[in-house]
Amino acid sequence: MVKKKTCVFISGQGSNLKNLIKRSRDSNFPITIKLVVTNNKNANGIMYAKKNSIPYFVLNTELRNYENHLFYVLNKYKISFICLAGYMKIISKKLISKFEKKIINIHPSLLPKYKGLNTFARILKNKEKKTGCTVHYVNEKLDGGGIIVKKCFPIVSSDNEKTLKIKTQKLEYKVLPEAIIRIFRNS
Ligand code: GRF
Repeated sequence: MVKKKTCVFISGQGSNLKNLIKRSRDSNFPITIKLVVTNNKNANGIMYAKKNSIPYFVLNTELRNYENHLFYVLNKYKISFICLAGYMKIISKKLISKFEKKIINIHPSLLPKYKGLNTFARILKNKEKKTGCTVHYVNEKLDGGGIIVKKCFPIVSSDNEKTLKIKTQKLEYKVLPEAIIRIFRNS
């Protein structure tokens, strides 16, 4: 199997990155992580890139020509697939069109419900009975691209934002690899 050369974009903890690095060691897993991109030079997740000798690139989105830097590194590492895992910046139209149907994102809700930020607080406020996570393609609409995999769990009365986050992330570690396997199943 020829593994897809993948770049993971992060902004914070990077626990999904850590999980993907682990999964990608399996020879049957369809991607290999060749690059990590972050907009946050203090992102904790950078440590997983360092520990695993994966090159990482800090994107200074304040720079007018930051996209040229981004395209340069994506090209340098021959990236053909992008996974957004806790990346807190909006992706540009140019990147989306260059990587059409080649960028996915993991979102901590059952899309199309609860797009955007502060999902857990809104879910609890609305007294939802269940929640979960969704992996979807990235298009120009925020959290709006085609859904690849979505899984849920029940919300219990003792749940709060912290427990929902823990439970959602635990599910994410299964759902994101499953979505990647599904995308490349027939390729
Ligand atoms: C995940 O819960 C994901 O759903 C959301 O951001 C979080 C990132 O967590 N988009 P981590 O950085 O992978 O630990």
